[in-house]
Amino acid sequence: MIVLKTGRELKVMREACRISAEALKLAGDAVQPGVTTAELDRIAEKYILSQGAKPNFKNYNGYPATACISINNEVIHGIPSKKRVIKAGDIVSIDLGAVYEGYHGDNAATFACGDISAEAKRLMDATHESLYKGIAAAVSGGRLGDIGAAIQQYVEQQGFSVVRQFVGHGIGTALHEAPEVPNFGTQGRGIRLMPGMTLAIEPMVNTGHFDVKVMPDGWTVLTRDGSLSAHFEHTIVITPDGPQILTKA
Ligand code: MF3
Ligand code: CO
Repeated sequence: MIVLKTGRELKVMREACRISAEALKLAGDAVQPGVTTAELDRIAEKYILSQGAKPNFKNYNGYPATACISINNEVIHGIPSKKRVIKAGDIVSIDLGAVYEGYHGDNAATFACGDISAEAKRLMDATHESLYKGIAAAVSGGRLGDIGAAIQQYVEQQGFSVVRQFVGHGIGTALHEAPEVPNFGTQGRGIRLMPGMTLAIEPMVNTGHFDVKVMPDGWTVLTRDGSLSAHFEHTIVITPDGPQILTKA
């Protein structure tokens, strides 16, 4: 069931999303050579708690941390660790969210540590741009497939590939609500988009093949061919006047 949010609900969700966005920005600003992924996680968690919110990934299906931090060929769900030290040239995907007064926010971004390769930069830029193409397609009266089609078309034009095995999602009183929001698809297909729908749109893009595999830790998702991957995500609401990004710092 897809829940359309009322104005009152959106007011609370906006706050959950603002907290999520600020936490992501703080963690991203702290990316530098020598910092551990556990330290970034701690920065985000501390901020979220300071706002009277809670990290919504923690304990989700047993997930042990506030953020998922995934480096280079890691796509998503990397578990923060004191042993994982970030170095210059890495691209660092941070995904996190907060639940505030029962409503969820969710967002992700990939950050560069120091100087990165031209290919890594192109990947980050293309993934970021593809998210905005997807958001622009999230309009009332359109179809769910319009979002994925816009993302996929742009990504493939840039010579990259869209991960298929993980998708975006509805979001609200649960972190994951209906519908699933694939980052690939066909324009004009799928459910009708309506005002009040709140969606987490989150393209995961690889420089190589879209295929992925899960590490023995049961969480970390890697590109199967070892190529680089980037990830950007916003929580948005569809309004009668178009899509609005809720996860703004
Ligand atoms: N990052 C995922 C999403 O954006 C959710 C994380 S699953 C968790 O939907 F278990 F790591 F929390
Ligand atoms: Co998400």
